Amino acid sequence: MTLFSELQQLLGADRVQDSAQAEALLRDRHGRFVGRVVAAVHPRDTAEVAAVVRLCGRHTAPIVVQGGNTGLMGAATPDASGRAVLLLLDRLNRVRQVDTDNDTLTVEAGCILQHVQEAARAASRLFPLSLGAEGSCTLGGNLGTNAGGVAVLRYGNARELTLGLEVVTADGQIWDGLRGLRKDNTGYDLRDLFIGSEGTLGIITAATLKLFPLPAAQCTAFLAFASLARAVAFLSHARRGFSAGLTAFELLSVDCLRLLREQFPASPLPFPELEQPWYALLELSDHQDEAHARALFERVLGDALENDLLVDAWIAESLAQSEALWCLRETMSDAQKCAGQNMKHDISVPVSQIVAFVESTDALLQQHFPGVRNYTFGHLGDGNLHYNVAHAPGRSVAEHMANYAALSQLVHDSAHAHGGSISAEHGIGQRKRDLLARYKSPVELELMHRIKQALDPRGLLNPGKVLPEASA
Ligand code: MLT
Ligand code: ZN
Repeated sequence: MTLFSELQQLLGADRVQDSAQAEALLRDRHGRFVGRVVAAVHPRDTAEVAAVVRLCGRHTAPIVVQGGNTGLMGAATPDASGRAVLLLLDRLNRVRQVDTDNDTLTVEAGCILQHVQEAARAASRLFPLSLGAEGSCTLGGNLGTNAGGVAVLRYGNARELTLGLEVVTADGQIWDGLRGLRKDNTGYDLRDLFIGSEGTLGIITAATLKLFPLPAAQCTAFLAFASLARAVAFLSHARRGFSAGLTAFELLSVDCLRLLREQFPASPLPFPELEQPWYALLELSDHQDEAHARALFERVLGDALENDLLVDAWIAESLAQSEALWCLRETMSDAQKCAGQNMKHDISVPVSQIVAFVESTDALLQQHFPGVRNYTFGHLGDGNLHYNVAHAPGRSVAEHMANYAALSQLVHDSAHAHGGSISAEHGIGQRKRDLLARYKSPVELELMHRIKQALDPRGLLNPGKVLPEASA
């Protein structure tokens, strides 16, 4: 029997699609990667996932897991060989347990992130992982890539929000590690190996997540800064003033705001004159009440204005205004997409190195690629910038993209030289796979290869992703 018909026999014909039926799933969101498969399958539960893995193992067929297909690195797109099986966990979308005494939520990997947030809210709790794609990305994808987003400076990445996992191993066993423990020092941390492994070490099918109290009040403001150094200094000031109440600090350059205005003229900007070089969206979450939040917010912002850390602050007076500010920030990526292809870089450096990184990298770019335009925005509180670069006026996008390898290497080398990472939150996938050899030490790469060999000795889980080919 063929693998396709055995899959049909295992799951039923309605949950097995061929390449043609699954076409929309075989390309990534930006159309950079396109693959083919033997089949795309939709198991209903963990036992069926394990059975699919064992069946694929018997046929030596690679397995690629896909969540909401919102990733940017091509990790969820199979290669063009047509040998792989695409595993979709959309039917694994149950909330298994809410434990309010333990402040945990156990959900399956196919749950849409927004539904996870809603399940927490229904229990009067907060699940704080939040990112632009939350309406369509899935928890499994979030864990596979160790997603970041806009609340990392307060709550951490997906990894920090996860206490336990259920994983189907490469040989089709089920590891039940769904422990809701905040303390568990019983040997190697398998959970942290699987999180961020982009489906190359095991298949995450469920997770036990940390919940937090819902804030009683939130204040949002849009801030204008005379320089990036002032924005960094303000961040320290806000950390001191708000302590754990500081839940977001999202940076946008003036060029980003100009682009937003150009692409979405119907969305008004808080400072239409755009006189300053840097702006940021600030959010305070307060556990007392509205009046307390507002008084604290105004005091900390007032001190910053007096001390010249800030040039101006536009405070949202209603939920609608606050949502409009968030909408501006969250449509930044779309604005760039509408404006045409550009080179995206998802770098991180220590916050103390941000200014040096931006100033020196901007200067190097102008020296080597005169006229290119920077669209720098991101999660300043995490030292994570989306340092994106568009074509110089008068040059075509195609000419610009022809310099992709050299220009990106310049940016990544600079991040590395400033003690940073070439992928802060978007992962490695196939897009950055071959760059790792340049930025990770031979020791680190060898350890990564040994882990892969130990957990997936036949190399069937998401082959060609994350790990560069081992040198002979
Ligand atoms: C963001 O922070 O908006 C995204 O991570 C950037 C992106 O999607 O390129
Ligand atoms: Zn981001």
